[in-house]
Amino acid sequence: MLTGGGDCPGLNAVIRAVVRDGIDEFGDHLVGFRDGWRGVLEASYVDLDIEATRGILPRGGTILGSSRTNPYKGDDGVRRVHATLAQLEIDALIAIGGEDTLGVANKLHQEGVRVIGVPKTIDNDLGATDVTFGFDTALQVATDAIDRLHTTAESHNRILVVEVMGRSAGWIALYSGIAGGADVILIPEIPFDIDRVCQLIDHRHARGRYFSIVVAAEGATPKAGTMEVLTGAVDEFGHPRLGGIGARLEHEIEKRTGYETRATVLGHVQRGGTPTAFDRVLATRLGLAAIRAAHDDAWGMMTSLQGNEIKLVTLADAVAEVRRVPTEEYERLGVLFG
Ligand code: F6P
Repeated sequence: MLTGGGDCPGLNAVIRAVVRDGIDEFGDHLVGFRDGWRGVLEASYVDLDIEATRGILPRGGTILGSSRTNPYKGDDGVRRVHATLAQLEIDALIAIGGEDTLGVANKLHQEGVRVIGVPKTIDNDLGATDVTFGFDTALQVATDAIDRLHTTAESHNRILVVEVMGRSAGWIALYSGIAGGADVILIPEIPFDIDRVCQLIDHRHARGRYFSIVVAAEGATPKAGTMEVLTGAVDEFGHPRLGGIGARLEHEIEKRTGYETRATVLGHVQRGGTPTAFDRVLATRLGLAAIRAAHDDAWGMMTSLQGNEIKLVTLADAVAEVRRVPTEEYERLGVLFG
């Protein structure tokens, strides 16, 4: 088993479910690779027995560690993966991750590695599953933060910009913004018009509401040529390190409206800490389905939530496309802005 990509509340619940069911029901011998694909490349692993997974259900993060290592990045990464699996006599891999980790799993499956995927990401942007565990926890953290920022925004008559995670999908921004009663919500899917943002804020002032809450996903971008933005370094999968749109918005909104504006970046607070009950249950169900899928030889499949049922889908379908917020959904909810 391995956990790759950004960590996510609920990962330990998956590990625990796989280990308990694997040992009790099937008599499996399980190991966990350390730090995602890095552990496979370097044959770095820990034995996983029931004792090793006691008490981890409510713990955030992952007891196995995680990284954004990409075996397809270096020259001999794939050869090293095969070498480790042969050396340790690994029959099958359960890869728990988002689009990057499962993208690697899918490629390895096509090369004959016996692999099952389990979807995770707080961003909730993976295809072929209705929701990913970790999202509910992140959403609650972001909503709690917005509630707190509301009272201080109102006391000081300020515009507060809240930057939340969401690289290419705005699920956390949209849902926490709706749950927290934000006045403006900016998501990566729809480039925003900074003039329109300022108009909404001005409109509230005209109605005697002298504070506003603006929620922006870290991947939100202005319409081309309307506002300067910053770009950062890229990781092994080519994703830029984001963060900075909140500060840019703080500057632009204050400059254009004249109202005092402050930005708060929630950052990794959203990813840490104990998972919600929903995420623990979902993660447990996905883990149980994964170990069973392995014993059914369902290689190249991923466990997924559809409606209220756990089903198997192909890894290829899961990683084919990022699941973005549909424009109609954003527009329908947009009547609540301002
Ligand atoms: O992929 C999940 C995520 O939390 C994104 O929302 C965010 O852009 C990224 O991870 C941050 O990654 P890192 O912890 O590597 O900076």
